[in-house]
Amino acid sequence: MARGSGSGSAHVVALAFPQAGHTNPMLQFSKDLASQGVIITFVSFAFDHHRMLKADKTLQRMGIRLRFESIPDHLPPGVDIVSDLFKIFGQLYQMEGSDLEKVIQRLNVTGPPVTCILHDVFMPWVAQVSHNLNIPRAVFYTQSATVGAIYHHFKYVQKWNNCEQDSKDAVVIPAIGEMRMPDLPSSFFPPLLTAGYLDICLSLVDSFNRASWVIWNSFDELEGKAINHLREANVPVCTVGPLIPSAFLDRRNSEDTQFGGSPWEEETEECMEWLNSKPPHSVVYVSFGSIATISTKQIWEIGRGLQSSGQNYLWAIRPSAGQTTVWENFWEGFAEEIGDRGLIVKWSPQLKVLNHPSVGAFMSHCGWNSTLEALSCGVPLLACDLRFDQPANCKLIVDLWKMGIKLRRTQNADGDVMFAWDEIERCVRRVICSEEGAELRKNAVRCKESAKKAKMEGGSSHSNVNGFVKEISK
Ligand code: UDX
Repeated sequence: MARGSGSGSAHVVALAFPQAGHTNPMLQFSKDLASQGVIITFVSFAFDHHRMLKADKTLQRMGIRLRFESIPDHLPPGVDIVSDLFKIFGQLYQMEGSDLEKVIQRLNVTGPPVTCILHDVFMPWVAQVSHNLNIPRAVFYTQSATVGAIYHHFKYVQKWNNCEQDSKDAVVIPAIGEMRMPDLPSSFFPPLLTAGYLDICLSLVDSFNRASWVIWNSFDELEGKAINHLREANVPVCTVGPLIPSAFLDRRNSEDTQFGGSPWEEETEECMEWLNSKPPHSVVYVSFGSIATISTKQIWEIGRGLQSSGQNYLWAIRPSAGQTTVWENFWEGFAEEIGDRGLIVKWSPQLKVLNHPSVGAFMSHCGWNSTLEALSCGVPLLACDLRFDQPANCKLIVDLWKMGIKLRRTQNADGDVMFAWDEIERCVRRVICSEEGAELRKNAVRCKESAKKAKMEGGSSHSNVNGFVKEISK
């Protein structure tokens, strides 16, 4: 029987926010459940459904069977997840649930009946659907437990009193310790604060207590204090992470080598061939995730910094938000200078890259998935946090796990704050060529071992997944 074709009585309807940083871990959790015989119906929004149909084919090739459905999103035609991110978020955050309700009612008739609704935290309206249909609900949280605990603190314990992001002030959050202002998620400061994003993040914490489970992409040994704090506050936390394809961590399914829902074509052969030609730990992999837009000037600084570091680099720059043109124009004159030292691709098979022995460091925006992926592959980070939850992730990477260094930001002559080329050059050399870099790698490998343990038989996340499956199978 193909995995997930339905040996048990549990049936989960899963609804993800349609962006790689959210669909990747949700797909992975769905795969983990399907491997235990749970039936999964993955519901996507109309504008993104073609991506999920492609995912279906990829998963079937890996021997994994999920069911796919779509619901209308009432978005204008041709929306783009990068350039229209806030428009899409605004629409999907406050939908009414009748379309989802109809799908679930139909599934209940065709059977087996739905026993749990799993939904991204960004879609709080699903609570009403779960209430109307009397089906238990699990919230899916895609950021760190530390970030969840910070929001929990400012929702229930201490009122946020609008401090400057670059001030030297700090707040003490009992479960976490001291957080300097620049280490807090950027939702606490303008422009996200004034756009109302902090209010949304705090209100989402409210939805935790009314759910039966909050499925968290983290593991107890990684963020113990924050996780315990949330549990003590009666948040029904169920840690199941890191949500990474099995072949890279617990190796229960060696065919599970990708998330499945890649938004762009992965340039796998090109990356692997090039990496195969490089010595161990000699390459810096550079990527800023699936939604960040990097300015032309910043791209130039990165290019010059990497080039003058004298180290090898593999750089993924997405073909969205006009960035293709930027790098094509920029690099035209530099192609000869790069030679064989650098490879630039539009979209990489990130996990395969991080898992390659030639990769020695990951220059990243500290998105939570990228952080967990680096950690699961034992790769130290050059932390260039940009916004949202990333500053807090950066603090964990640098201060708690000691598996990365934070790049300093400076202001250039035009007043733009950015990572300057000479800082990039210096930090790349520090990680790739020094004793300090070797120490960071050792710490990253320690994190990898602990992640693996959490996911293996008897480990914390593995046991939590088993417990969850038991409860939804009752
Ligand atoms: C964002 C936030 O930054 C993140 O913290 C939050 O939890 C989810 O939304 P994003 O900015 O896209 O996500 O970053 P990240 O969380 O790191 O996710 C990016 C995903 O895209 C990763 O799974 C990564 O493997 C994948 N990726 C990225 C590729 O497969 N290829 C690439 O070239 C770049």
